[in-house]
Amino acid sequence: MQRLRIKNILSLEKKPGEAVTVCGWVRTRRESKGLAFIALNDGSTQDTLQLVISETSPAFQKLADCNTGAAIKATGLLKESPAKGQKFEVEVSDIEVFGDADPASYPLQKKGHTLEFLRELGHLRPRTNTFGAVFRVRNILADAVHEFFQGRGFIWVHTPIITASDCEGAGDLFTVTALDLEKPPRNNNTIDFSQDFFGKRAYLTVSGQLEAEFLAMSLGDVYTFGPTFRAENSNTSRHLSEFWMIEPEMAFADLKDDMQLAEDFFRFLCRRVIEKCESEIAFLEKFYKNTSIAELKALAEKTFVHIPYTDAVKELEKATEKFEFPVKWGLDLQSEHERYLTDKVFKGPVIVTDYPKEIKAFYMRLNEDEKTVAAMDVLVPKIGEIIGGSQREERLEALIERMRQMGIPLENVEWYLDLRRYGSAPHAGFGLGFERLVQYITGMHNIRDVIPCPRAPQTIKF
Ligand code: 4AD
Ligand code: MG
Repeated sequence: MQRLRIKNILSLEKKPGEAVTVCGWVRTRRESKGLAFIALNDGSTQDTLQLVISETSPAFQKLADCNTGAAIKATGLLKESPAKGQKFEVEVSDIEVFGDADPASYPLQKKGHTLEFLRELGHLRPRTNTFGAVFRVRNILADAVHEFFQGRGFIWVHTPIITASDCEGAGDLFTVTALDLEKPPRNNNTIDFSQDFFGKRAYLTVSGQLEAEFLAMSLGDVYTFGPTFRAENSNTSRHLSEFWMIEPEMAFADLKDDMQLAEDFFRFLCRRVIEKCESEIAFLEKFYKNTSIAELKALAEKTFVHIPYTDAVKELEKATEKFEFPVKWGLDLQSEHERYLTDKVFKGPVIVTDYPKEIKAFYMRLNEDEKTVAAMDVLVPKIGEIIGGSQREERLEALIERMRQMGIPLENVEWYLDLRRYGSAPHAGFGLGFERLVQYITGMHNIRDVIPCPRAPQTIKF
């Protein structure tokens, strides 16, 4: 169809007087003094392109079908626009209507629908300014993830989505089964998964880390970027049951290297959004007032505060604020505590390190105090934890001891122990929750509004 994207037209790829063909969806249509105006959006950019149709043009006859939501093709000449706020408009000579949208039933008639209402319309909400902006920012961030790691020589690895390992401890697992759920084979009172598809019980992965570790212990520096699944019943504005995670894993690296990588990564991502998503962020700033280019610029320069868990707990104990959950050495930080540290105490991102071993996963390296592990969580304002990572326990005896203490059977993870038997070395990595990142950058309050098809307890439309 030789259509031009509106983004390309507005970024001056074409000059006034040139013929153009554009395709998109009608946002609004109005008529005045023998002219009709259509604001057309094609998803490539935040902006709409103004189409001007004179009543003397044959295209004028098609206007009755150019209702809000209709998909059309317009051909005409590019003109400098006399209207404020836009460089160009198109003086239309021809319109083809691909599909009309009935004004009596098309749900996105007027602006200003609530995000809750739009969540019920997951298939149409990407046509709104808000979701167009969010999904374009998401795209730029996804691209920047690869640019960052590829630029540093990390190798992108694809870890499995179906896994047999249930020991990560990162949350409840979804079982993957091909058994007849009406009458599954039983062994005494338990389901006999040895008769299942894989000959043992399988799950959707909660993280690609354990596999990324063996790839790092052969390829050096690697990263994953894929979907992960958690069956925990968390109905909050920052939890999904299916979310995307980016997990770099570095051989020959310690916790300090890990934190440095996380900070560099975060700053890089902010910079790319500033460069490539200015109009999206400007839109989100105007309507939701929870993000801004200025804030992102500040963030792109910021070095993060580092604080050991033990000191973080002292800060929290000093707080005059009343928390819902108790604060005590040994207890995990709740999101209200995390946000107190980022929003009130340090007013920016904070990395909390060296958590008590009891509240962290078995694979984290035991510190010399034998009470804490070489863990790090990156916390950001308004959201709390956005990254969780650690230096890994590379010492076989120490790892086995930790697993024994935590009651994790060794049989299933012989392969993981092998990495400590043969050519073991210090290594470290982290996981960045991609939707939490998009949420933070766009300022969307609810994580369900930064992924096309959110999965959460009792929520699985589409
Ligand atoms: O802290 P988590 O559980 O860490 C891991 O899974 C490690 N295996 C990562 C690693 O070291 N390679 O999860 C990492 C991040 C969290 O900080 C959070 O941003 C995000 O994943 N996350 C979620 N995002 C959305 N919904 C959920 N239910 C999430 N659970 C974790
Ligand atoms: Mg965590």
